[in-house]
Amino acid sequence: MTNTNPKKLFIKTWGCQMNVYDSRKMADVLAPMGYQEVTEPDGADIIILNTCHIREKATEKVFSELGRLKKHKDVAEEQGKKMLMAVAGCVAQAEGDFIAERAPYVDMVFGPQSYGTLPEMVAKATGAYGKERVINTDFDEEDKFDKLPEETIATGPTAFLAVQEGCDKFCTFCVVPYTRGGEYSRRVQAVLDEAQQLRDKGVKEISLLGQNVNAYHGLNENGQTESLADLLIKVADIDGIERVRYTTSHPRDMRDDLIEAHAHPAVMPYLHLPVQSGSDKILKTMNRKHTRDLYFDIIEKFRRVRPDIAISGDFIVGFPGETDQDFEDTMDLIKRINYSSAFSFKYSQRPGTPAATMGGLIREDIKNERLQRLQALLNDQMKAFNEQTVGMELPILFDGITSKGQLHGRTPYNQAIHVNGNPRLNNTIENVRVTSTNGKSLMGDLVLLEDVA
Ligand code: 5AD
Ligand code: SF4
Repeated sequence: MTNTNPKKLFIKTWGCQMNVYDSRKMADVLAPMGYQEVTEPDGADIIILNTCHIREKATEKVFSELGRLKKHKDVAEEQGKKMLMAVAGCVAQAEGDFIAERAPYVDMVFGPQSYGTLPEMVAKATGAYGKERVINTDFDEEDKFDKLPEETIATGPTAFLAVQEGCDKFCTFCVVPYTRGGEYSRRVQAVLDEAQQLRDKGVKEISLLGQNVNAYHGLNENGQTESLADLLIKVADIDGIERVRYTTSHPRDMRDDLIEAHAHPAVMPYLHLPVQSGSDKILKTMNRKHTRDLYFDIIEKFRRVRPDIAISGDFIVGFPGETDQDFEDTMDLIKRINYSSAFSFKYSQRPGTPAATMGGLIREDIKNERLQRLQALLNDQMKAFNEQTVGMELPILFDGITSKGQLHGRTPYNQAIHVNGNPRLNNTIENVRVTSTNGKSLMGDLVLLEDVA
């Protein structure tokens, strides 16, 4: 269906890949109402801020962005146009009432569980039944995903597919169990249907997404529970799906069948397995419910199945009570694992979490120094990993064209690579010889027949 005069939807997304996925779904859900996504807020009919609450200053960031965007709303109103402003995501879930009170010009505030009812919320807020302000931060008992369309307007060869949401782990630093609720797994068939839809749109690589994705335990048509490994292989076996990934995992839920699934050629040799700290004492106060040795054992098992697997992780420095020795234990763990990439953060106090009331706060300058040392080590490891792939011939999935006209793609190890070649190779997988690296990304040459070069 084409609309000659589409309404404009602008979504700004912060935070994790689940939010990126949710933003996509919000656009999908509003498309049948005639909303088309635009890349600038200017002249938009609806502006949605999809927010993240994971680290501090989250709420302040939202307010400063709202202040900026309100100017667009004022301009629109001067021209007699209506512009809806909405705050969604985890800040909305956690601080909905506060936002509604402090920013009266915000028309809608709603949490991640309610995206399926967006058409009704928009109808209310636009005045279809008499204009109403919409505040919706309830945890819906029903399946959030059942209300979201499988049909997607996604373009490009890669896509995320949410299979699991929420978390029951309650790490003492983390807001996710409060903003996203308990662990929930989608049904196997719902995931496979969505995967097929994506394949029909030309998607070749699917990343199964969940806050605790390897805790997945969805029901199949026979009422039996399937694991993430079962699901991953089923998605990988869909005709036309050439690559599968999953993110993000927890060491406690790592099962042998998932490790063994990495023997499947379509399961990419890449693992994101956050550890947060290398100190058993800190892991305990973080309530991670695993030791550093368990982490080493898991990685060793993965390397037995895929010796070349690229390992990525998340780290927090300066958690309350972290001594120099605890920090050195983290550095030691990093040296022993050898990461290909990683995300690292200074501990950030989150109101309402158990760690927020712990003693032994670490001074900011110590946190900064630790983060710098940790990131220097991780950067060296990333550089070494990238250098090690120079000279290799790897299949690259091209997923875009850079502003310089080069093909952009990803290696199986999830490294970014730039290649000179015909733009029509975009969205295909081709063999590339890696020629160099600047430390962060790779450069390569196509290894192919003359006619497409
Ligand atoms: N402070 C710092 N980092 C945090 N993370 C989660 N909560 C906090 C916090 N309070 C990090 C963890 C997690 C990633 C998504 O964000 O490393 O794995
Ligand atoms: Fe947060 Fe821990 Fe759950 Fe990850 S496992 S989402 S860090 S509570």
